[in-house]
Amino acid sequence: MEEKKIMLSGIQPSGDLHLGNYLGAIKNWADRVDEFDCYYFMADLHTITVRQNPADLRRRSMQQLAAYIACGLDPEKNTLFLQSMVPQHAQLSWVLSCYTQFGELSRMTQFKDKSAKHKDNINAGLFTYPVLMAADILLYQPHYVPVGADQKQHVELTRDIAQRFNSIYGDVFRIPEPYIPKAGARIYGLTTPGDKMSKSIPEGCVFIMDDDATIARKFKRAVTDSDRENCVRFDPENKPGVANLMSIYASVTGKTYEEIEKEFEGQGYGVFKPAVGEAVIDTLRPIREETERLIKDKAYLEQVYREGAQKASYIANKTLRKVYKKVGFVQI
Ligand code: TRP
Repeated sequence: MEEKKIMLSGIQPSGDLHLGNYLGAIKNWADRVDEFDCYYFMADLHTITVRQNPADLRRRSMQQLAAYIACGLDPEKNTLFLQSMVPQHAQLSWVLSCYTQFGELSRMTQFKDKSAKHKDNINAGLFTYPVLMAADILLYQPHYVPVGADQKQHVELTRDIAQRFNSIYGDVFRIPEPYIPKAGARIYGLTTPGDKMSKSIPEGCVFIMDDDATIARKFKRAVTDSDRENCVRFDPENKPGVANLMSIYASVTGKTYEEIEKEFEGQGYGVFKPAVGEAVIDTLRPIREETERLIKDKAYLEQVYREGAQKASYIANKTLRKVYKKVGFVQI
């Protein structure tokens, strides 16, 4: 039997998971479990580049693990783990930081954005964060790294670091490919259709744990367009709000844009918006209920993260040993 290709990704538990995380990432991961050997983790080490409340971080990390499972990531088929439980991430990160240039890190757009936003806390971790991300990836020798478009630059840096290392020491790392979801899988804020859905604008962000009434309300208040055409037509350039609602609807119902245009022909946004809300409610309700059930099952979650960390650590250690040997550290 041919070996399965390896896929790896992570999400920072710095906010509660939302519809953009689900439709843009987790749902697609879950669809590929059988095709790939998958590693998905909570990138908790990354979150502390920005100050976190410890109790919230702990709660969100566990909730995210429960939600991964509720969204269809079966821990029997995927390796699910918390980054901080696998020490090799931090260990490889140090080594790789010595093969990464100051200038390269200075060019990262996310660093520029975040340091502009958090002027009072431009810490070294914020600056070296892409090196930790490179370590996260390279430890598992993945073929593909599914990420949003905003992370593409970091995956490209990861490739550069890996190639640089390989050119000195031989083939140590597999060079991973970014796996950017096709247009439509990217979900924008309901009140700000120009920007991706984000927890920082909660009115336009549908959280996985939102109750039905809250979801319905957020969709009713969604921004449509300013041309007053009041017609459901897929035109991302001129009607970004409507296009976003259509891609959400398409994604949760499996319908095509044409089918959606037909379905709402002659009916305005007053009918369309609540219909999208209902479809999202139907999709999220079982996920929310299952997440709630799992959060209460502490023993089960503990078993999942223990086994996940053990499996991840076993694989990660193989790569780390190889790296340590190549650079000249004495082996035990
Ligand atoms: N940096 C990613 C984000 O903020 C999260 C992340 C950390 C990640 N390590 C990763 C994604 C490794 C893919 C692979 O979204």
